[in-house]
Amino acid sequence: MSDAVDTQIDLDFLGRERARRDEFTPIWQDTLDAVFADVAPYYDVASDVASLGLCSLWRRRFTTSVEIASGDRVLDVCAGTNGVGIELLKRQPDLNVSAIDRSAAMQEEGQKRAKARGFKIESHIQDVHSLPFPDESFDIVTLQFASRHLRVVDVFSEIRRVLRPGGSFYHCDMLKPENPLVATLYGGYLKACVSGTALAFGSGEAAWSCRDYFVRAIELFYSAAELSELLKGIGFAKVTVNSAPGGVVAWHRAVKPE
Ligand SMILES: C[S@@+](CC[C@H](N)C(=O)[O-])C[C@H]1O[C@@H](n2cnc3c(N)ncnc32)[C@H](O)[C@@H]1O
Repeated sequence: MSDAVDTQIDLDFLGRERARRDEFTPIWQDTLDAVFADVAPYYDVASDVASLGLCSLWRRRFTTSVEIASGDRVLDVCAGTNGVGIELLKRQPDLNVSAIDRSAAMQEEGQKRAKARGFKIESHIQDVHSLPFPDESFDIVTLQFASRHLRVVDVFSEIRRVLRPGGSFYHCDMLKPENPLVATLYGGYLKACVSGTALAFGSGEAAWSCRDYFVRAIELFYSAAELSELLKGIGFAKVTVNSAPGGVVAWHRAVKPE
């Protein structure tokens, strides 16, 4: 995290980032790869079963909100099974799409899915806290359903660096509801979903061991309004947000100033 970035960010957010890092680093470093290696073959179906179909709606809402033009260079961060890249290529087949994700298993599934539809997505298997691309190399960067697992200030700063001036960052994730009652109900619902899905799909030990983490990661995460402030603090402009009822999911767009 550079000093130039630090000075713009509210101290409360930096404290939250430290708390998230202190509590979750062991899981981020040692367990998540095993979880995603385990779920990769059934990730897309399981997300829909667990969310009773909501995940598909949320994903569609995200990808249709992305403004694309012929030949745009797109980077999908934490691309998983390439759901975002494939949807964008369906709309605009001449995009140059790159995907980056630390999980080889998720990307392997993603490559199969892209090839089956005749699309080319350039795959990078690497941790996203440092992006292996020169400054200003993309017109659009997307990041869906993964920020809870990341040091967001570091990753969003990297995203800003690799975007060209005037380029847009599109973000979607499950966020912390502002209403405490909604947050409690949502936490209980999520825990039941994670357990039910792990049982239904015969998940391995790593996924079971993360049941509490998946709920806790949202408890310590940001609300939609807080995420907007964080994006502005990192140096993005024209930050806009749309939220699902209760603020359980939100869609942000943020532009790198010209
Ligand atoms: C819940 S999946 C979301 C995948 C995809 N974006 C989607 O919307 O379906 C989270 C993804 O983030 C990836 N991930 C988590 N932490 C990461 C890190 N530090 N570096 C790279 N990828 C990471 C995981 O490997 C996994 O593929």
